[in-house]
Amino acid sequence: MSVHAATAVACPNIAFIKYWGNRDHPTRLPENGSISMNLSELTTRTRVTFDPSLPNDIFDLNGIRQTTASLQRVTSHLNLIRGLRGVSTRAHVHSENNFPAGAGIASSASAFAALTLAAVNALGLEMSEKDLSRLARRGSGSACRSIPSGFVEWYRGISDIDSFAVSIAKPSHWDLVDCIAVVESGHKKTGSTEGHKLASTSPLQNARVQDTDRRLDRCRDAIIARDFETFAEIIEQDSNLMHAVMMTSRPALLYWEPATIEIIKAVQTWRKAGIPAAYTVDAGPNVHIISEAKSLDAIKHRLSSLPGVKEILIAHPGGPAKIV
Ligand code: PMV
Repeated sequence: MSVHAATAVACPNIAFIKYWGNRDHPTRLPENGSISMNLSELTTRTRVTFDPSLPNDIFDLNGIRQTTASLQRVTSHLNLIRGLRGVSTRAHVHSENNFPAGAGIASSASAFAALTLAAVNALGLEMSEKDLSRLARRGSGSACRSIPSGFVEWYRGISDIDSFAVSIAKPSHWDLVDCIAVVESGHKKTGSTEGHKLASTSPLQNARVQDTDRRLDRCRDAIIARDFETFAEIIEQDSNLMHAVMMTSRPALLYWEPATIEIIKAVQTWRKAGIPAAYTVDAGPNVHIISEAKSLDAIKHRLSSLPGVKEILIAHPGGPAKIV
């Protein structure tokens, strides 16, 4: 085999109905379906070059050569893709995030979506969006939602074959905006791969999972109807449910910092005062404030006066993972 290369770009996504817990950890089959929005302004750009002269895979992330767990995770994912093509050629992977490395924005979704698409393309494999999404899921669950465009639903599925994500609305469908209030920029103590393994130790996880179809229906309907009030109520409840599971796992996971609560309470006050805004929090302390674009200035203004907010990032609904 000669040298083959391709470059792909993908956005991270913010989950409105969260994925937390796996039925099968190695294949990342989720306990529940989820819904998210791609974040347009934040991107990961990844070039994969398969080169027969390489003895091992090389992984450079934001210009820094990776040697330990992150290289191992990239190699495992490339092994899956090499297996589909029946080759063993090693690759050089260059990946760059355009968002600050320490901003506490989870990059595994955009990272594994871009890596999957670039590697599949470089090896000349023909794949549907559905199969790309299934494959990206194996690298990081939420990465399957960064393959399709805009507002996305990941079907729980019964097996590997039918657990993938599809677009439920284009980016232009609803001018939502995600105002990300960064309160801490360090690496999180427990990553989501380990976190998913703890979900089943919480007595609340079963109740959360059993109730998922109701939340998915409500959230999907609210997105389709652009009904912000219903949307706000359900995404906040869903985020609180996931954090209730995290806090009651053994060992307990408490991702919130005092500033997280401060922002959550502020958002509740703003909504009562007539500013449409809703909060959602992933596996970290930063708060995503979702609103309609027309309220962005009012929200940015209020957020910047809260002492715990270190930085604010803005993102609109984003497109699919793409070859560039
Ligand atoms: O894809 P992972 O393993 O990084 O898990 C993502 C988990 C959450 O971000 C907390 C929720 C979600 O659905 O994105």
